[in-house]
Amino acid sequence: MKRLFPNVLMDDQGIMTRNLVRGTRVYGEKLLDVDGEEYRVWNPFRSKLASAIMEGLKELPIGKDSKVLYLGSATGTTVSHISDIATDGRIYCVEFAPRSMRDFMAVAESRQNIVPILGNAKDPQQYAAFLEEVDLIYQDVAQVEQAEILLRNLPFLKTGGNIMLCIKARSIDVTRDPDKVFREEVSKLRQKIDITETLDISAYEKDHSFVVGIKR
Ligand SMILES: C[S@@+](CC[C@H](N)C(=O)[O-])C[C@H]1O[C@@H](n2cnc3c(N)ncnc32)[C@H](O)[C@@H]1O
Repeated sequence: MKRLFPNVLMDDQGIMTRNLVRGTRVYGEKLLDVDGEEYRVWNPFRSKLASAIMEGLKELPIGKDSKVLYLGSATGTTVSHISDIATDGRIYCVEFAPRSMRDFMAVAESRQNIVPILGNAKDPQQYAAFLEEVDLIYQDVAQVEQAEILLRNLPFLKTGGNIMLCIKARSIDVTRDPDKVFREEVSKLRQKIDITETLDISAYEKDHSFVVGIKR
C-alpha cells in the first residue's frame, strides 16, 4: 500500500480515497478496509482525475481545507472523490443538465462539503453570488469552448491557485487533428495561467488530455 496524496492510497487494486461517508457508495465502487479505515476504489475509467493520477500526475492540488469550483459535475463520480479529500473544504459544483443534477443531489445531501449549483458554466454571473474565492477550478464539460469557459470562471480563483482542465479535442472540432486542437486550447490558457503539467489520458478516455496550471 502506498500513500500517493493525503487521503489517496494505491495498491494492486488501484487507487482509492478514504470514504467521507462510511458504508456508502456513489457509483457502485468497491469499499475496502485499510487499517480500520474505509476506502472507496477510484475507477480511472469513470473519473478523469483518477486517470490523470494513473498517468503519473505529480501534484494533486487538493488539501483538507481546499475550496474548489467544479464545472461539469454530472452525477458526482469525481466530485465524490474530491469530497473525500477536501474533507473540511467546500466544492461548488456547477452542472446545467437537470437530469444529472437530480441524481447528483443524493450525493450532495450525504456530503456536507458539496454545494450543488444548477447553472451554465458559460455564464458565471448566474452563480457568482453563491461562491467564494477558490483554491482550485476543476473543469470537465466536453464543450466546444473549453478554454474560454475556464477563462470566464478564472476571476473566482485566487492568484497562485490551480486549474485542472480535462480537454476533449473532438468536442471542440471533430474534423481536426486532436493534437493541434489541444495545443490551441493550451495556448489560450497561457495568457493567464502557467501550465505545470499536461497528461495524455486517452488510455482511459478516448481523445482526452488533462492540463494542470497555476493562475498568475
Ligand atoms: C464528461 S461529463 C462530466 C463528468 C464528471 N466530471 C465526472 O468526472 O464525474 C460533462 C458534464 O458537463 C456538463 N456540462 C456541459 N456543458 C456545461 C455547461 N456549459 N455548464 C454546466 N455543465 C455543463 C454536462 O451536462 C455533463 O454532465
